[in-house]
Amino acid sequence: MGEEMESYYANVVDSFGDGVIVLDGRGAVTHINPAAEELAGVSMRQAKGVLFSDIFKGEGPLNEMVEKTVQTGMSISDQENIVLKRAGKLTPVGANTSPLLSSSGERIGTIVLLRDLTNVRELEEAVRQADRLSSLGALAAGLAHEIKNPLGGINGAAQLLEMEFPDNEDLREYIRVMLKEVQRVNVIVEELLALASPGRLKLGKVNLHQVLADIVLLQKSATGARNVSINQYFDPSIPPILADEALLTQLFLNLIKNAVEAVGDGGQVKVTSRVLSDYSMTPKGERRARMIAIDVVDNGPGIAPDVQENLFTPFFTTKSKGTGLGLAICQKIVSEHRGMIRVESHPPRGTTFTVMLPFIQ
Ligand SMILES: Nc1ncnc2c1ncn2[C@@H]1O[C@H](COP(=O)(O)OP(=O)(O)OP(=O)(O)O)[C@@H](O)[C@H]1O
Ligand SMILES: [Mg+2]
Repeated sequence: MGEEMESYYANVVDSFGDGVIVLDGRGAVTHINPAAEELAGVSMRQAKGVLFSDIFKGEGPLNEMVEKTVQTGMSISDQENIVLKRAGKLTPVGANTSPLLSSSGERIGTIVLLRDLTNVRELEEAVRQADRLSSLGALAAGLAHEIKNPLGGINGAAQLLEMEFPDNEDLREYIRVMLKEVQRVNVIVEELLALASPGRLKLGKVNLHQVLADIVLLQKSATGARNVSINQYFDPSIPPILADEALLTQLFLNLIKNAVEAVGDGGQVKVTSRVLSDYSMTPKGERRARMIAIDVVDNGPGIAPDVQENLFTPFFTTKSKGTGLGLAICQKIVSEHRGMIRVESHPPRGTTFTVMLPFIQ
């Protein structure tokens, strides 16, 4: 093959979004493209001539698979079981191995294809969550109807009772409790209904900093005697975004409320806004949309890994008076805005919830 042709094919391989590693007959690297360099955490210069099994030491299932192809020429595919542990990060990958054949059909090496499945796994999780919500939807609609009617009855009867005994202070106190609790059930049913129905966005220009500042002000007065500081750090260059203001208010109120509830006396909550320039929403630059990120950071106890798994599941709560709908609602609002919500927590060092939203819908 002419030199020009060779560099042409090298360009083709290097432009590939998936990782490509070419091995010689012994299983040593002859070529590794940029995507594979990134996945493996080594450069072409470091990798060239080194055995695949040395570069991916400790990656048992991947090594076994490559070894088998090097030995036998068998093609193997595994899209389920391989997770690379590199630089402290876990990356799920799909792997394919196949023999490299010369023009005369002779086996002269092995080709390893690695595809980063991080985004695929995230998408799968989002679909599972949507499934859970839609089966919840049918149930919720029925349940809400069945509950709201008798609840209206209790509410009316309690009010009548209150009028019947205007002078009995004790009785009036009980009735107030009844009315308050009825109201609470009402709110839960309403929230559940909102969560379960597909909802339509009422889009308008939203000054996000105004929304956040209002919530912070409200929460500051709600902390009452507890000594909790809430600080805001906003990037002034962020323009109004196109969004549903009422829903964004609900979203950030839930997050900031959770943060305030998580911290103890002397706790600190920070609300930060920043621009994610050039954040790519889909893998490998398919579409790049400018997005903003809002971080809600607290120095509370953090969230244990087993709790983290269930955070967004409706009715999951660790609080005696929580409904567990807060974060499920947050996730729905964020996905309706085509954004993302992430949580990072390393107990006991507090929690950061990050919401990413596109500037426009
Ligand atoms: N900032 C945080 N720090 C620690 N734990 C948190 C934080 N945010 C959420 N959690 C955990 O996630 C659980 C679910 O939160 P979610 O907002 O969905 O419901 P809730 O706060 O329990 O109830 P509700 O929001 O209806 O009052 C909480 O019970 C709590 O255990
Ligand atoms: Mg909550």
